[in-house]
Amino acid sequence: MDNILVIGAAGQIGSDLVVGLRKIYGSSNVFATDIKPAPQDIMEGGPFQILDVMDDKQLIHFIIRHKINQIYLLAAVLSGNAEKLPVQAWEINMKSLLNVLEIAKMVEDVKKVFWPSSIAVFGPTTPRLHTPQLTIMEPITVYGISKLAGERWCDYYFNKFGVDVRSIRYPGLISYKTEAGGGTTDYSVEIFYEAIRKKQYNCFLSENTALPMLYMPDAIRATIDLMEAPREKLSLNSAYNLGGFSVTPKRVYEEIRTHIPEFKIEYNPDFRQAIADSWPQSIDDSVAKKDWGCYYEYDLEKMSTEMLREIGRKLGHFDSAQ
Ligand code: SER
Repeated sequence: MDNILVIGAAGQIGSDLVVGLRKIYGSSNVFATDIKPAPQDIMEGGPFQILDVMDDKQLIHFIIRHKINQIYLLAAVLSGNAEKLPVQAWEINMKSLLNVLEIAKMVEDVKKVFWPSSIAVFGPTTPRLHTPQLTIMEPITVYGISKLAGERWCDYYFNKFGVDVRSIRYPGLISYKTEAGGGTTDYSVEIFYEAIRKKQYNCFLSENTALPMLYMPDAIRATIDLMEAPREKLSLNSAYNLGGFSVTPKRVYEEIRTHIPEFKIEYNPDFRQAIADSWPQSIDDSVAKKDWGCYYEYDLEKMSTEMLREIGRKLGHFDSAQ
């Protein structure tokens, strides 16, 4: 069994991914790390350690000591937050990736790296409907610029040094376990929490802003499937488009209203509207489907039912979450 390191285990993706990986690889083989404490099940369900990916010496020491074979690097500053501190965000998003790629190049035991890219690599000059895998990429956010540069670095380390690094351009990710922090697609998580907590939501994107979204169980399965795929099946050395389903805030609101009829919404777009307007509305993920059989189990309806049920349980509001 491979030993797996997850960096960013306390975050939105990490806190679900660690659970998925431990089921497959065994609890003691999946090392969860973050710069802050993670949810209880992550810290108690297997090895957990505070670790800063920016500290390359501490990182390489950890990787050698625990004989790590696969690294999932999930630490990042998301799109909204990155606009507030552009230089720091660039440094964190780039240096963390370069630290991991350099270690993967040097340490023979490290066989594979996963690093998430995003639909943020696209920009206003990209075709916005059914955005192809290979197209114009002129991102206008610091986050998008760092993800595009990161994709090129992944491709470079594969071609130059044979580092097997795999990546997905995630659309907005919807989950109930850990809330995202500082992203443009975060409304799609907040809206469920607020529907249950307050029965009203003040949305920071306008009602008809269409964006591609993916429910976390589909994202986790796709990520592990990509990492398990035989290398020779992969035609890309960088990041695969993933589409999920496309929705607008209005459509999500209407779906929640079928469960909570008294739910109210207001739209007050903030600076994230311009970011959303520069991203694709829907994604062509045919290359991921062809190369490693990517598929989805959730659509808006199925995802919403589960989100309301699970958040209802978490917050102790059983009645509003049928
Ligand atoms: N969900 C991310 C964000 O909104 C995009 O990758 O920043």
